[in-house]
Amino acid sequence: MDSLLHLMKRNRGNRNFSDRSVSKVVLDKILEAGVSAPSGVVDSVHILVVDQIEKRQSIHRICFETERIWLSGQPASVRERIMKSPDFDPTLEYLLKAPVLLVVSTRPNDPESPHAVECAFIALGYMLVMANGLGLITAPYAPSIMDDSDEKQLNAIMKLPPGESIQALLPVGYPEKPVKPIARHTYRNVFFNEYGNNYFQT
Ligand SMILES: Cc1cc2nc3c(=O)[nH]c(=O)nc-3n(C[C@H](O)[C@H](O)[C@H](O)COP(=O)(O)O)c2cc1C
Repeated sequence: MDSLLHLMKRNRGNRNFSDRSVSKVVLDKILEAGVSAPSGVVDSVHILVVDQIEKRQSIHRICFETERIWLSGQPASVRERIMKSPDFDPTLEYLLKAPVLLVVSTRPNDPESPHAVECAFIALGYMLVMANGLGLITAPYAPSIMDDSDEKQLNAIMKLPPGESIQALLPVGYPEKPVKPIARHTYRNVFFNEYGNNYFQT
């Protein structure tokens, strides 16, 4: 139990992927974790394993273009904060460099699949922790879709059926250099009975 907590605590987004390939055995374990995540409706979340370089280049191109537009539309304070973060990479090259790209999709507006989007992100979290536990790194990415045409293009690349849309991308691979664990949590965001009443008295 403690080792799971330890793993979760040291997990950080990391975009420094090496060229080392990911074996099918390892990839299957990550996918098994994803499909084991709680889901409101069985099979409402879909995970697409993408290794075709042309597809990945097309996904990268759309994400790169939309992210640039999205970022320029953010308030200056937000833009600055994002651009100052140490691992900010406007090229999004890591989406191409990671040997495996997992694409998580679902049907956000399907009344038959309530909470589909939430479940997609839980599956993402399960895969992220599993990948980390196997010594790999990940860098979750939620495409900044600006309009219908971006979405249509992305959906066409993956041949998604009508109503289905991409929620997140999870590039997965091995780190270029050993990962240094960095403390993340301040514990100040856990409250007791009411908002603002700190649960952890640190
Ligand atoms: C669900 C999710 C979506 C994200 N989407 C993006 C994104 O679209 N663009 C981006 O630059 N970083 C995105 N990030 C942040 C990075 O993947 C990474 O988490 C961050 O750089 C720092 O890692 P940390 O949150 O583990 O500390 C996202 C993170 C999460 C959890």
